[in-house]
Amino acid sequence: MSQRVLTTEAGAPVADNQNSASAGVGGPLLLQDQHLLEKLARFNRERIPERVVHARGSGAYGHFEVTDDVTGFTHADFLSEVGKRTEVFLRFSTVADSLGGADAVRDPRGFALKFYTAEGNYDLVGNNTPVFFIKDPIKFPDFIHSQKRDPFTGKQEPDNVWDFWAHAPEATHQVTWLMGDRGIPASYRHMNGYGSHTYQWTNADGEAFFVKYHFKTNQGIRCLSSEQAAELAGKDPNSHQTDLLQAIERGVHPSWTLYVQLMPAAEAADYRFNPFDLTKVWPHKDYPLQRVGRLVLDRNPDNVFAEVEQAAFSPNNFVPGIGPSPDKMLQGRLFAYADAHRYRLGVNHTQLAVNAPKATTAQNYGRDGLMATNSQGRGAKNYEPNSYDGPVETGRPLSAPLAVTGHTGSHEAPLHTKDDAFFQAGELYRLMSAEEKSRLVANIAGGLSQVSRDDVIEKNLAHFHAADPEYGKRVEEAVRALRED
Ligand code: HEM
Repeated sequence: MSQRVLTTEAGAPVADNQNSASAGVGGPLLLQDQHLLEKLARFNRERIPERVVHARGSGAYGHFEVTDDVTGFTHADFLSEVGKRTEVFLRFSTVADSLGGADAVRDPRGFALKFYTAEGNYDLVGNNTPVFFIKDPIKFPDFIHSQKRDPFTGKQEPDNVWDFWAHAPEATHQVTWLMGDRGIPASYRHMNGYGSHTYQWTNADGEAFFVKYHFKTNQGIRCLSSEQAAELAGKDPNSHQTDLLQAIERGVHPSWTLYVQLMPAAEAADYRFNPFDLTKVWPHKDYPLQRVGRLVLDRNPDNVFAEVEQAAFSPNNFVPGIGPSPDKMLQGRLFAYADAHRYRLGVNHTQLAVNAPKATTAQNYGRDGLMATNSQGRGAKNYEPNSYDGPVETGRPLSAPLAVTGHTGSHEAPLHTKDDAFFQAGELYRLMSAEEKSRLVANIAGGLSQVSRDDVIEKNLAHFHAADPEYGKRVEEAVRALRED
């Protein structure tokens, strides 16, 4: 077989890939060396802005298969039949560090799933935690600023991390989660994924249900202690990427079982706490888990940049039968992601192979823009309505309408009888074994004791006391002991 010829980007054969063309043997270089110019110029443009959060991640393809009938709750096509399979792409990530950070760190993990359904791509952009630190999107930039590198010191600052939490009592539940054993998953395969938010399902009769998604790992939960993680992060900063890539290459295909919790829409208003509050879980005894299907990852991407770095997930990509709830955080996210994609990848990011629909085609009147490749068909009209058989609207909303009451204004989330910030943090603490509690207390104290201001420490301690008096007392003693050292 003859060897393939190296070419320029225009396809012309390259004569020399080791020596730049020069004027004479020792002379200056020639502008006419197109291969050299192209090579250097392309190299300068290899990076795009990294994601402002969740910069570091790993992805894989696979499928989702329905195992249980949920047609009484949603008319989503990809969930319409037991045995139905839909291709998926899943990107896992850490949150706070930049692209070059380590995988084995104490941080939530992203669990962003794209279902390539016959009715369009459905993106479920979740985490490995069922709750989050805040419940209003207006706080998100401040929260993230406090957790990422400080603009002056250029590093993560315990002062900033804990100062934000001191002012955010609603974060106590997620802080308890993050500082506990599950705060450092051993790998992406050994953790659960959650939609975290409450979403809305609508069935064929137009009945609405509120829904929470739980993907339970079939590999079992495995976590790292702070000490194990510190060692691994030094030895193999790419430990999660290595694990996922190698498992799939070996034919060991990770899988998750999807369960949902379903609340009939009419029950939301009188539930004892706001069911759209992202800092709270719905107790399983109120809304038990119901099995839906199985998610399997079985194919690594061919190219990490093209398919993982350029993957774009938006919580606003819904399909018929699935829609948003009034969760304020979710509502904020409905804007934020596609806006980030337009900045990071450009307006035509939806035409990239990983982002484009696979089981249907996008048909609309969007045209042009940077890097447009989709003509929508020769001579297709770029306006609507038209007299040329162009695509038309269905008149059928994707999901049921949400009822609203009251006046416009900057309101705190509606108060239900049990909307306080702390009780679920306390319940999580009380669920832990004695050993887990000790590790949790040590992890919190390790961070909080590094804070320079006493008032910030005091405010955080007050949150743990409010969650559970024993929890507060133990953290306080542990912080004091470390500060006296
Ligand atoms: C990534 C914003 C809350 C999960 C991102 C990105 C932005 C963002 C701008 C980068 C997107 C990109 O460049 O492609 C926000 C805002 C939030 C919020 C404004 C709150 C108002 C959350 C929550 C979750 C979450 C609550 C999980 C339940 C993720 C994940 C990614 C991500 C998994 C990475 C997606 C990927 O793999 O490409 N977020 N986020 N975020 N966010 Fe959020």
